Amino acid sequence: MADKLIIFDTTLRDGEQSPGASMTRDEKLRIARQLERLKVDVIEAGFAASSNGDFECVRAIAQAIKDSTVCSLARANDRDIARAAEALHGGRSTRIHLFLATSPLHMEKKLRMTPDQVFEQARLATRFARNLSGDIEFSPEDGYRSEPDFLCRVLEAVIAEGATTINVPDTVGYAIPELYGSFIRNLRERIPNSDKAVWSVHCHNDLGMAVANSLAGVKIGGARQVECTINGLGERAGNCSLEEVVMAVKTRRDHFGLEVGIDTAHIVPASRLVSQTTGFVVQPNKAVVGANAFAHASGIHQDGVLKARDTYEIMRAEDVGWSTNRIVLGKLSGRNAFKQRLQELGIEMASEAEVNAAFARFKDLADRKSEIFDEDITALVMDETVTA
Ligand code: KIV
Ligand code: ZN
Repeated sequence: MADKLIIFDTTLRDGEQSPGASMTRDEKLRIARQLERLKVDVIEAGFAASSNGDFECVRAIAQAIKDSTVCSLARANDRDIARAAEALHGGRSTRIHLFLATSPLHMEKKLRMTPDQVFEQARLATRFARNLSGDIEFSPEDGYRSEPDFLCRVLEAVIAEGATTINVPDTVGYAIPELYGSFIRNLRERIPNSDKAVWSVHCHNDLGMAVANSLAGVKIGGARQVECTINGLGERAGNCSLEEVVMAVKTRRDHFGLEVGIDTAHIVPASRLVSQTTGFVVQPNKAVVGANAFAHASGIHQDGVLKARDTYEIMRAEDVGWSTNRIVLGKLSGRNAFKQRLQELGIEMASEAEVNAAFARFKDLADRKSEIFDEDITALVMDETVTA
């Protein structure tokens, strides 16, 4: 049987860290329920120790959600970990996600700690967390810019202390797909107890490569969990987008050979909900969920799609939650698409000559108007009737 790729959604935590994207408890609960319908494996509900409000969000989501694991982020210290455990208490399936920076830059300038101090704190925090939960994820923040020998030492130690998932963040979106993939593979090969943990990727999109890097982490590195957000929401240029990574693995199953448990028909509703809640508009040409993702405007493409959809569609619009694909009528459209729309609108023309005349008027109008809507077509045909 094919390996499963675990989908870890962090819209409610890393996504919310996007400036202007903060959400109320009720909004987060609504999104968490949609993520559960989507069948994501893990929902990162928030960062319980960061505020009383976030604590309440994690608590409410842990109580409400039954089919996904609910996770809270925590810094690698006892107070944060205890707060996360308290917020998650009573949840059906829960996880504590610890993080501590391991790159030379972050250790020296941000934490003002020596590598040995970081090593010790990571180890002790994991031990403390493991006494409170059986499901512990550890993230070496800025992991991709960390020194590999030191990272191996830290990760081997936290796995020995009971971390069950090791997530390697590209915190600042600096990675390149092949390099990130080999970075993960190298860690897995060098750490003697690496197979005791699930390996995970967490990529930011500063260079527009978050999805490509995540996929390389899976394919080259052997990661089996991807951290992502709906619409790629997240700090700065965002995180790896859930809809893109999921549809890539599903559409190119021939290449990845992995199972994903996501019910993809809920993708577009999830995208809309997150966009409406945060006010972050989805760009029309965004893969999978953008308004134009399944729209065809050129006559040649429209003709092809009307004959066989897979001429210009590699996935079905309906499979990701659109009602159908969209033939956009405009100046590039051909007679075939125009005629098809007349049929869909229930308009019968008496002869081919009439179709030709209406099509000529349609082309004139399309030169003046970028998109022709159904009402325009009805008006065009009415015009013909009136003139005749
Ligand atoms: O980008 C990052 O490093 C994070 C960690 C907290 C996992 O979001
Ligand atoms: Zn992040």
